[in-house]
Amino acid sequence: MRPDHIARLASRLDDDSRAGALRALVNNAAIQLNSPVEALPLSEWRRQFEVNLFGHIAVTQAPLPALLRHSGRVVNISSVGGRVAMATYGPYAGTKFALAAVSDSLRRELAPLGVRVVVVEPGAVRTEMSDRLITTANRLAAAMSPEQRDRYGRLIQATNAHSATHIKRGRPADGAARLIAKAVTAGKPRTRYTVGRDAALITRLSRVLPDRMLDRILAAGLRPHYPRTAMA
Ligand SMILES: NC(=O)c1ccc[n+]([C@@H]2O[C@H](COP(=O)([O-])OP(=O)(O)OC[C@H]3O[C@@H](n4cnc5c(N)ncnc54)[C@H](OP(=O)(O)O)[C@@H]3O)[C@@H](O)[C@H]2O)c1
Repeated sequence: MRPDHIARLASRLDDDSRAGALRALVNNAAIQLNSPVEALPLSEWRRQFEVNLFGHIAVTQAPLPALLRHSGRVVNISSVGGRVAMATYGPYAGTKFALAAVSDSLRRELAPLGVRVVVVEPGAVRTEMSDRLITTANRLAAAMSPEQRDRYGRLIQATNAHSATHIKRGRPADGAARLIAKAVTAGKPRTRYTVGRDAALITRLSRVLPDRMLDRILAAGLRPHYPRTAMA
């Protein structure tokens, strides 16, 4: 995050004659550091939250006066990972659960002031994210201790294979973009939009199923992706 860039943005937006009316802010940037909770160094946990949460908070605070002047809206791109946290998704899902909670608070704070807050929760979307997340997960796994590799190596391989398959079967990015455009422009936007049938299903299941049943469903989905041999 570059505080000087954000401050410059805020001062440009203060001058409506230069910037025009600000109608919407879309917080989209994210990185995904998949790792078992035990094995991710704290510096990487902080980086994950810096990009996916604190960055968005900073970029929301700066233009808020302009959004308030123009009854604009904030659209936060969360994830189905903001509803359900699979094994090794703790760092990423942690940021998305937090972003969803912050969005709920913000919506309740700003509704009386005329600014709407919308959360978009995509399931799998075909973007560069899958390649990036697998490269990153492998880099993080390579830095684990031998004991951690014994404990988690096969799980990491399974979640990598599962993510790759899931995203390959995902929605095209332009479909997701159309839904985000709807969240930005709809006269009366919903508080949340899911993107894709997978996201709608998982969101519904997470609301009604007991934790242990959800654990079993997620474990069953991962089972076919386990390697036959242990990680080197
Ligand atoms: N793809 C999916 O299946 C999926 C599913 C659920 C949710 N989402 C969410 O959808 C959003 C978009 O993801 P995507 O699939 O388009 O991922 P992506 O292809 O990996 O793109 C991520 C974007 O975030 C930007 N970014 C990363 N770190 C940044 C930083 N420190 N400062 C500023 N920008 C930064 C990247 O910019 P550079 O290219 O310049 O690095 C890139 O534009 C994310 O919030 C993600 O969590 C995606």
